[in-house]
Amino acid sequence: MKKVLVLEGSPRERGNTALVTDWVLEGLGKRGVSVERVRVPKLDINGCQACSTCVSTKGGAGCAQDDDMTELYDRIIDCELLLFTSPIFCWGVTGQLKLVTDRLFALMTGENMLKGKPIALVLTGGGSIFAGADLAARMYRDIAHFIGMEYLGEHIVAPCPGRQAMNRRPSYREEAKRFGKELRQRLKT
Ligand SMILES: Cc1cc2nc3c(=O)[nH]c(=O)nc-3n(C[C@H](O)[C@H](O)[C@H](O)COP(=O)(O)O)c2cc1C
Repeated sequence: MKKVLVLEGSPRERGNTALVTDWVLEGLGKRGVSVERVRVPKLDINGCQACSTCVSTKGGAGCAQDDDMTELYDRIIDCELLLFTSPIFCWGVTGQLKLVTDRLFALMTGENMLKGKPIALVLTGGGSIFAGADLAARMYRDIAHFIGMEYLGEHIVAPCPGRQAMNRRPSYREEAKRFGKELRQRLKT
């Protein structure tokens, strides 16, 4: 059973990003896969304090902070695919998801616990792909490369017309499902 951890950055539980994520997971399917969806904005997660405690810790995060990231670190270490999902807010991912992304630093210092871990991305934006989705995708691609994670790609819906319009046009669902199927193939379930 391959463990997929979905870190959902949107504060809107039933928003555009959640809908596209539903479809991607539909494409990924259920056979041989266990999916856990974590709504990051519901968690109590602080920003990295740059204290460097993690730098001298091997075999775990070694983060000096005690917040909801402590438990999330264990799940991130444990999963076989990390799927980040977010709407674009001001040319980037949501602040809530960026805090988690910064805190990944603790898993790559000391002993790199993210090396080789597959990562993928789902984004929705109100503007064109050049109103931030391109930058957010580049950010995760470059971070993955820097850490030595395996970047499996991104699915971007931008400009995203909203839930109702997406539900009226089957192509949105089909494209998201296709991405989910691709992820499944890359996971070799
Ligand atoms: C605070 C805020 C900032 C936004 N900034 C951008 C932006 O910079 N670029 C963009 O393409 N869309 C932007 N949008 C639009 C959202 O990315 C878009 O509506 C998205 O699909 C919402 O997803 P959700 O329903 O999951 O929240 C912004 C929306 C909000 C609320």
